[in-house]
Amino acid sequence: MKKILVLSLILLSFLFANAEELTLEKVKEVASKATSELNSKLKKELKKAKRDDKIKGMASFCIDDSKKIIDKIDKKYGSKVSIKRVSLNNRSEKSKALENEINILKAFDLIQKSDAYQPKQIVQIVDENTYKVYSPIEMRSRDCKKCHGLEKKVDKDSKKKFSDVYKNNNGYGHKSGEIRGAVVVTISK
Ligand code: HEC
Repeated sequence: MKKILVLSLILLSFLFANAEELTLEKVKEVASKATSELNSKLKKELKKAKRDDKIKGMASFCIDDSKKIIDKIDKKYGSKVSIKRVSLNNRSEKSKALENEINILKAFDLIQKSDAYQPKQIVQIVDENTYKVYSPIEMRSRDCKKCHGLEKKVDKDSKKKFSDVYKNNNGYGHKSGEIRGAVVVTISK
């Protein structure tokens, strides 16, 4: 009887130890899944908005609805995972890079400007219970340039909307292939 008790205690402690363990592999996997989901949803919905009402449709999607998609995915992954977009040239206050995020964004920029292969993810250790996984967001289609390219080339109506809503003049001046920002997935134990 005693033996069985000891054995089951050992077994239980193993089970709990495993449930607690958050490996680097697991962190990368969860982040990759959440990031792909966000990217493909944004892409799909932007395309739909374009089909419905060209640049006007896209502008109202980006201003009003893109954040809803981010919030929805953020909720879906539970309280230990959060997802957001950050940029060094942010329009939305929500996308302002925090102190410890700035260097990683600069690193993506430097890699891009050095003609090196961009990593899909950079994992940052925040503290012993928290990781941040960054995935670069590139200026990957001509549509991005319609709103994030050279300011003088952006259509007047959209520009007016952006400055009315965001009270800043950010988010312009990016060329094709450049880094526009990053998706950041924060994962805690
Ligand atoms: C129709 C205009 C428009 C198009 C097209 C567009 N964006 Fe944006 N983008 C915006 C607006 C407006 C925001 C601010 C959204 C918010 O309030 O959350 C934004 C925000 C962002 C952000 C978050 C940082 C910030 O400035 O707040 C990133 C990253 C981004 N866009 C990347 C892209 C990429 C990559 C593409 C091309 C696939 C793209 N955008 C296409 C208008 C646009």
